[in-house]
Amino acid sequence: MERRGCGVLQMFALTLLWVSVCPQCCRASWMWLAVSPPEQLGCADLPLSPRQRELCRKKPFVLPSVQDGARLAVSECQNQFRHERWNCSTREDRSVFGYELTSGTKETAFIYAVMAAGLVHAVTRSCSQGNMTECGCDARLRGGGSSAEGWHWGGCSDQIQYGTWFSRRFMDRDVKNMSTSTGGYTLVTMNQHNSEVGRQAIDGTMSTDCRCHGVSGSCAVKTCWRTMAAFERVGVYLKELYERSVQVSDRSKRKTRRKEMQRPPVDKHRLIFLNKSPNYCVADRRRGIAGTRGRSCNRTSSGPDGCNLLCCGRGYNTHVVRHVQRCECKFVWCCFVRCRRCETMNDMHTCK
Ligand SMILES: *[C@@H]1O[C@H](CO)[C@@H](O)[C@H](O)[C@H]1NC(C)=O
Ligand SMILES: *[C@@H]1O[C@H](CO)[C@@H](O)[C@H](O)[C@H]1NC(C)=O
Ligand SMILES: *[C@@H]1O[C@H](CO)[C@@H](O)[C@H](O)[C@H]1NC(C)=O
Ligand SMILES: *[C@@H]1O[C@H](CO)[C@@H](O)[C@H](O)[C@H]1NC(C)=O
Repeated sequence: MERRGCGVLQMFALTLLWVSVCPQCCRASWMWLAVSPPEQLGCADLPLSPRQRELCRKKPFVLPSVQDGARLAVSECQNQFRHERWNCSTREDRSVFGYELTSGTKETAFIYAVMAAGLVHAVTRSCSQGNMTECGCDARLRGGGSSAEGWHWGGCSDQIQYGTWFSRRFMDRDVKNMSTSTGGYTLVTMNQHNSEVGRQAIDGTMSTDCRCHGVSGSCAVKTCWRTMAAFERVGVYLKELYERSVQVSDRSKRKTRRKEMQRPPVDKHRLIFLNKSPNYCVADRRRGIAGTRGRSCNRTSSGPDGCNLLCCGRGYNTHVVRHVQRCECKFVWCCFVRCRRCETMNDMHTCK
């Protein structure tokens, strides 16, 4: 267990709370690499658990990819949630996402899925670019294809096995039984399930790309390779899973109403959560929730970014913002471009 990061919690919380929350805060703190990178990337200086540190020592060459993966995941989380009440904001300290990291809500589910997927993506990229000795392009496809149909495998097919393996080893504990039909889930097994959903998302969004050869683009011969989707596509997919996530029973709570709960098994294409989310409308300092006051909203949208939903019915303020742009640019012989300055007035709406 990481001691440094737990000191503060230890002071304030009951022992019980400490036992249940502390391993979570510390295990996840590698995500901190995304928000506040250290000057030097070394296994000893990072907020890693003993397990992670050991893996880091054995494979220090993966560390830059861990950082890339963390950044990729955090920025995609913020992209997917930019119009939502919870906007995936992070803080500089090691709790990174704060309350959402340990709340066991569907936001926690998304965070774990996207972070695990980010690791797979970044490590695999590095494999494909030939930066690692332990992995490379997928050689199994080489030589295959169909000459009758005029294509063959070639180039570099992304091989996600190593990245997937690494993501599991790095993020998961050795918990063999993820769920049992009687016991329900704990925060640890919930996180582990959702991380696996994230890794499967990389697998499930892979596609085949081809390039044509032949006289003037006749496409007589095609070279094809397997490629991971752009990470944004993975983000879109995980966001859909977030919308359809299911609540599962919490092992530590005896009285859970059975009817509301999805019975196991929950497959690897569903995100699960233990606790209902707060509505994120009003500020809650204890949980570090900012509330939606001051957020800019869209007056005409009926989606989550619409003023009605985003402002939780409190209404909005309208300000006029002046935009100055270069416009009516003309090329003047020779050789410069002359523009005019144009002003536009736009309405901007922010939640009350
Ligand atoms: C999220 O919204 C808050 C205002 O509620 C804002 O201060 C913050 O910058 C936003 N974060 C992101 C990542 O957009
Ligand atoms: C691979 O290594 C090169 C040279 O060190 C570096 O510029 C590049 O960013 C690396 N690529 C990945 C995906 O890590
Ligand atoms: C998982 O749990 C089932 C039933 O509780 C048990 O039969 C099985 O041996 C367990 N597996 C492991 C790997 O612990
Ligand atoms: C506001 O929402 C409408 C309808 O969804 C959309 O057409 C428009 O582009 C949005 N405006 C902005 C500034 O995002």
